[in-house]
Amino acid sequence: LVVILLFVAEISSNDKVAIALSNVDSPLPTDFLFGTASSSYQYEGAYLSDGKGLSNWDVFSHTPGKIIDATNGDVAVDHYHRYLEDIELMDEVKLNSYRFSISWARILPKGRFGEVNLAGINFYNRLIDALLLKGIEPFVTITHFDIPQELEDMYGGWLSPQSQEDFAFYAEVCFKWFGDRVKYWSTFNEPNLQVSFGYRTGLTPPGRCSKPFGNCIEGDSEFEPFIAAHNIILSHAAVVDIYRTKYQREQKGKIGIVIQTAWFEPISNSTADKRASERALSFTFKWFLDPIVFGKYPSEMQDILGSILPKFSKIEMMKLQKGLDFIGINYYSSFYVQDCIFSTCPSGEGVTKTEGLYLINMEKNGVPIGKPTPIGWSIYPQGMEKVITYIKDRYNNIPMFITENGYGEMDNPNATLEEHTNDVERVQFLEDHLNALFVAIRKGADVRGYFAWSLLDNFEWMFGHTRRFGIYYVDNSTLKRTKKLSASWYKNFITEHKTEA
Ligand code: NOJ
Repeated sequence: LVVILLFVAEISSNDKVAIALSNVDSPLPTDFLFGTASSSYQYEGAYLSDGKGLSNWDVFSHTPGKIIDATNGDVAVDHYHRYLEDIELMDEVKLNSYRFSISWARILPKGRFGEVNLAGINFYNRLIDALLLKGIEPFVTITHFDIPQELEDMYGGWLSPQSQEDFAFYAEVCFKWFGDRVKYWSTFNEPNLQVSFGYRTGLTPPGRCSKPFGNCIEGDSEFEPFIAAHNIILSHAAVVDIYRTKYQREQKGKIGIVIQTAWFEPISNSTADKRASERALSFTFKWFLDPIVFGKYPSEMQDILGSILPKFSKIEMMKLQKGLDFIGINYYSSFYVQDCIFSTCPSGEGVTKTEGLYLINMEKNGVPIGKPTPIGWSIYPQGMEKVITYIKDRYNNIPMFITENGYGEMDNPNATLEEHTNDVERVQFLEDHLNALFVAIRKGADVRGYFAWSLLDNFEWMFGHTRRFGIYYVDNSTLKRTKKLSASWYKNFITEHKTEA
């Protein structure tokens, strides 16, 4: 007992990690959030209901050839109409938080101009109230890829600095209407992936790239991802500024950003490959986090990109100093990386100058970094621990949340319900990643929540309904939800580990 008390006292003395006395075996801080994550376009459906405007994803998914199974999010999993049933499912799994995003076009159908759509406001009011009634903390993303199409048409969306002002206007509407009850705000979801897909490969809206393959729009993939990223970073800063100066004191919430991460293991011990790993981290997530935390782009990016990389003015650097309260980490997979500065690389992901001059490898000497999931993503739980520890060390242990982590499968239309729901591999995946998270927390990382992607099978962007990530199975024709083994497993895990004060 003495040993345990000393341990608790020692941990408590670090004010960032207060351990729950009720569960001394758990490394988790009190009130750790256990949730699932979702996004408006992937879940809601109701694409033109109750005054909602068209989003860029509505238009993109309706363009022939963009979504591999020719489906779209018009109905998605109909969460707009079934949110009460879905909250029952969350309650059944004992979640104490739910991460979702707000559809900008549902709130401001024309982006900035025109009236606030009260029917849209009311939907989110009902959703938030119903969550709170069950003791489920809303964890809200202000925009998760979908923006009003009007903004794309009017000025090219994130390519224009006008997007900063318009995003700030929209975010303020969210704070005004929902901030009394929402205590966790993320400005963006995975902007790093969004700009690479939207402006380099053209696989997501606005579908721009400079070497047209398929039917992407001719853009300038050398500059555009960096311009869009710059506007997104400054939009984040503008919104944090508004929240800090006008709302945070009264509403007492936290504001952060959610970034897509992966671990990039050097393929050899050579200095060149180790540097390639640093470059990969820079060109993926430090690209956004460094400016937000330190006010400047990572040095590797500055060195390689030179004048391609936009510069922050003195005033912009000041705005960036408002920082963030937490970092949201989306982690699914890891890779080996090899240097492409001192050695010649075949073509592949990362090898061009604007991507960072490293080559992504799935294997080292024929052995994968981890067993691939059915959608080909290597399973490497240690990678999550490494990413958390890296972010902890680099950004002074700013509070973190694992805002997404999950196991994707290909949809098999011929599988029986029993086969769909007996997802033993997903259980193993979640367990291994939660254990890796525990290791990182035991080593001192200030991680305050974990969100599995996702509660329900849903619309997986350009892959349509061909991929399944849910802990509940959704029948695409009836939309009926059925519990998978992973939902029962997660419920037990949460029951054993929850750390409510
Ligand atoms: C990250 C994205 O935020 C989410 O929208 C997507 O469905 C999952 N990864 C799975 O690919």
